[in-house]
Amino acid sequence: MTGAADVAAVPVLELVGIRAGYGTIDVLHGVDLTVHSGQVVALLGPNGAGKSTTLAVASGQIRPTSGSVKILGREVNGVSPDKLARAGVCTVPEGRGIFPNLTVSENLRMATYSGAKFKDVQERAFAQFPRLKERHNQLAGTLSGGEQQMLSMSRALATNPALLMLDELSMGLAPLIVEELYSHVAEFARQGLSILIIEQFAQAVLGVADSAHIMLHGRIDRSGPPKEIAEILAAAYLGMS
Ligand SMILES: Nc1ncnc2c1ncn2[C@@H]1O[C@H](COP(=O)(O)OP(=O)(O)O)[C@@H](O)[C@H]1O
Ligand SMILES: [Mg+2]
Repeated sequence: MTGAADVAAVPVLELVGIRAGYGTIDVLHGVDLTVHSGQVVALLGPNGAGKSTTLAVASGQIRPTSGSVKILGREVNGVSPDKLARAGVCTVPEGRGIFPNLTVSENLRMATYSGAKFKDVQERAFAQFPRLKERHNQLAGTLSGGEQQMLSMSRALATNPALLMLDELSMGLAPLIVEELYSHVAEFARQGLSILIIEQFAQAVLGVADSAHIMLHGRIDRSGPPKEIAEILAAAYLGMS
């Protein structure tokens, strides 16, 4: 198991039989999910299905009651979010996770705790998102929603992650802005980054994801190519209304 091909075959993220919840409330009832190296996987489904909880398990914020979490083939159950972040697991949480009372540059500086050079982080962020350069002295809380997501992604990318997880990037944003954000995500994917995308609806991720899963009531209900999953999801939403 030393060849490059073997290394590439080890999934970046592997969740096996994950059960997890909050206190005595069970939310995930045996979730299996794999993100292979260089793959973009979409986890879709309605509000309350357990998508963010799945992400919390994968990022070490919640310890599963059973099942196994593997990052690059290593079992990491119970490893702290901090350590996982340093091992390359990066999250853009629902609600963006930026510091609203700090400027754009200060937010980027806060992302360098892992040892990355501020100058490099800032250069890379500004090259990827010129809008952030124009606004480097602006308080992050006064940025538009789309710009806040750009900042949040820049912060996540500062650590050169092996796995980037995005939780409802599109929430509250206009379709054109969402399209712009996902064109950046597609660019990250072309550069070989492995990405787990969480969204309620499939539309935004259709052009970006390699495969998709629908989560319902704490279980993976369906898996398949994004286009097929989008159709199933659309029918399910229509059926609900
Ligand atoms: N901190 C929490 N404490 C208790 N229950 C929670 C907490 N966060 C989420 N839940 C519950 O877990 C279930 C799944 O939530 P979540 O994973 O956020 O779903 P999704 O991201 O798919 O909308 C919901 O029923 C929600 O109310
Ligand atoms: Mg959520």
